[in-house]
Amino acid sequence: MWDIKTLTPEQFALFERLIYRTTGIRMQPGKITLLSNRIRRRLRHHGLESFEEYYTLLTAGSLQGELEEFIDAVTTNETFFFRTEGHFEWFAGEFLSELAARVVAREHPRSLKVWSAACSSGEEVYTLAICLAEARGMLAGWQLRILGTDISASSLAAARTARYEGRTLEHVSPERLAKHFQQAGDGWTVRPSVKKPCEFRTHNLLKPLGETGFDVIFVRNVMIYFDRESKRVAVGHLIDALAPGGYLVVGPADGIYDLLGDMERRSSFLYRKPLAGGRSGASAISGGRHG
Ligand SMILES: C[S@@+](CC[C@H](N)C(=O)[O-])C[C@H]1O[C@@H](n2cnc3c(N)ncnc32)[C@H](O)[C@@H]1O
Repeated sequence: MWDIKTLTPEQFALFERLIYRTTGIRMQPGKITLLSNRIRRRLRHHGLESFEEYYTLLTAGSLQGELEEFIDAVTTNETFFFRTEGHFEWFAGEFLSELAARVVAREHPRSLKVWSAACSSGEEVYTLAICLAEARGMLAGWQLRILGTDISASSLAAARTARYEGRTLEHVSPERLAKHFQQAGDGWTVRPSVKKPCEFRTHNLLKPLGETGFDVIFVRNVMIYFDRESKRVAVGHLIDALAPGGYLVVGPADGIYDLLGDMERRSSFLYRKPLAGGRSGASAISGGRHG
């Protein structure tokens, strides 16, 4: 029987390959204790005594819904409101003003489509929604939509509940808390008026979303866990989902600058798809294992 305490290097390699195939995430060997701890919880949940038995049942599909639970257990879901505040300052300021000018010039419909890809428990989505609520005057009569997606079902369940407490709210000012949230016991829920344009859906970044025309996509602090091949596939799908002239906002350590083809680099976190005649992402980046 396998040792239930810590994965052996061989066991680690098996789970690591499964995680990579399923999510694109590369687990470094240094994470063996972390991964052992996370998987051990799943073993206990099922009353299993060995990593081997769990792996066999998991990959055979004998534990109903377990692959979803396994992915939940092994992904890192840390997030918080107004994470990397400058990105939201750009969104609420320069981006909305430029879009409004394009609407006035009849170069863009009175609509805004935002995708928060790998949104975890929803803080990024609701931070964007707060920015839109604060620009309500400028956006009167516009069709607004913020789509939040993630591979983790439990994170999305939390996002839909929209109830938060503690450290995640640290960067929300008391004025914003009072204006955009309602007290709920020890925590706070996002007000229905702020939630209105938000929608959540399960999605794996290694697959196409099946929807295009986004004016801006936030995809932050997820590709840091991907290897180059997973990044290449995900970036291709993201570029395809952007409208011509749409923006991609990336995290400080996501490391995809050399995979962005003819996207125009605006700053360290910001890239723009050409307005017309630009190449399409996934279709322009050929080949690959996940593709
Ligand atoms: C660290 S959180 C980042 C959340 C948010 N974007 C932020 O910057 O605060 C990373 C999220 O990526 C998700 N994730 C990991 N692999 C994914 C994949 N292949 N497709 C979609 N989401 C994925 C995880 O479930 C997790 O919720």
